[in-house]
Amino acid sequence: MAPPLISPSILSADFARLGEEVRAVDAAGADWIHIDVMDGHYVPNITIGPAVIKALRPHTQKPFDVHLMIAPVDPFLEAFADAGADIITVHPEAGPHIHRTLQAIKSLGKKAGVVLNPGTPVEALDNVMDLVDLILVMSVNPGFGGQSFIPTQLAKIAAIRSRIEGTGRAIHLQVDGGVDPDTARDCVSAGADVLVAGSATFRGGPERYAANIAALRGEQ
Ligand code: DX5
Ligand code: ZN
Repeated sequence: MAPPLISPSILSADFARLGEEVRAVDAAGADWIHIDVMDGHYVPNITIGPAVIKALRPHTQKPFDVHLMIAPVDPFLEAFADAGADIITVHPEAGPHIHRTLQAIKSLGKKAGVVLNPGTPVEALDNVMDLVDLILVMSVNPGFGGQSFIPTQLAKIAAIRSRIEGTGRAIHLQVDGGVDPDTARDCVSAGADVLVAGSATFRGGPERYAANIAALRGEQ
């Protein structure tokens, strides 16, 4: 089995030193940088917006994997694209027209992702498989880092993996929430190829980042 890509969620980083933290996880082997955008409306927490993403952009060349938990989302897509997002991932529940939102992301020249909450069925993907570059399975309810992995999502990951095989397209299958070295192994066995990890990347401070990322990849 190929090792998964690791996308550290900077939600668990030191927000007073974000640029330094991004450089540190880049140097420690992160494949992508996962950026959680929350609005206090679609999810019960508030984080950062395009200005912070723009300020972080010069700190790494790694892809910015931007997870938007905001409603409405459409009016802000261009701002996130301009700020330096490479992949923009959206929740179907956050807007009235998921198909149109994904089309808009593609027309901005960015990779488009769709994300399913723990209670959202796989059928939400039915009519958008041709538009997505990434499918994200939430293994916690969105809003906070440090929550426990919800094991029922493993069957969803496996079901989506077979759907992806059916398309013949290269669509990434990502998991976000409660991913640690143990749950990472289960996610990869179920078919995930990109893992988001906040607490499990940043725990122990900068001198642990490389070992934490290697452990998530299954290297230790
Ligand atoms: C939760 C966010 C996650 C979060 C993951 O809404 O989407 O990206 O940072 O944190 P951990 O890895 O600590 O569960
Ligand atoms: Zn996220």
